[in-house]
Amino acid sequence: WLALPLAALGGYLLGGVPFGLVLTRLAGLGDIRAIGSGNIGATNVLRTGRKDLALLTLLLDSGKGAIAALGVRALLGWEGVDPILPVVAGVAAVIGHNYPVWLRFRGGKGVATTLGVLLATAWPVGGLACLTWVVMAGVFRYSSLAALAALALAPAYAWALAAPVHVAGFGLLAVLAWWRHRDNIRRLLAGTETKIGQKSKAKG
Ligand code: G3P
Repeated sequence: WLALPLAALGGYLLGGVPFGLVLTRLAGLGDIRAIGSGNIGATNVLRTGRKDLALLTLLLDSGKGAIAALGVRALLGWEGVDPILPVVAGVAAVIGHNYPVWLRFRGGKGVATTLGVLLATAWPVGGLACLTWVVMAGVFRYSSLAALAALALAPAYAWALAAPVHVAGFGLLAVLAWWRHRDNIRRLLAGTETKIGQKSKAKG
């Protein structure tokens, strides 16, 4: 029974590492939270003009979600692990990214980390969610809209392709992501959301 709280705690602490903030600071770009939307994610790192750092942020933020989920299996044995444990660790990693103890609980929006969790716990669902993001971003050029669509569809993909535990877990991740995108949703509705690669002062 100890495995469940330990998976949650480990996932939360790992998810809380703010790679976007660390990388931009190391690169001498100042505090990413004072740039663009103020978010610590890859989309906002891209607004600094550093595509390499944005890509690295995307990879590391999604990687920590995947590692949280896969780490449970690695520690407890690949076979026979209750499938709820990787999902719990993954959801905890996203909560850690969104509400990190290191940043006084003011973190990011959890899109990259969620995609990492989906890929690690049910890769066909993760693949479809990534594809949805790419298609939506390609057509509309809004990172937030692409994320909202991809993560809202993930539970439906899981319903078709994975297990009930994934449907529930991914549903929770979609709710978390939509909640963290409240300002983006307002801007999308008002027509003031910043497009991918555009530099603007939209806060939130
Ligand atoms: O991954 C976060 C993205 O969906 C929105 O980021 O910086 O435009 O608020 P941002």
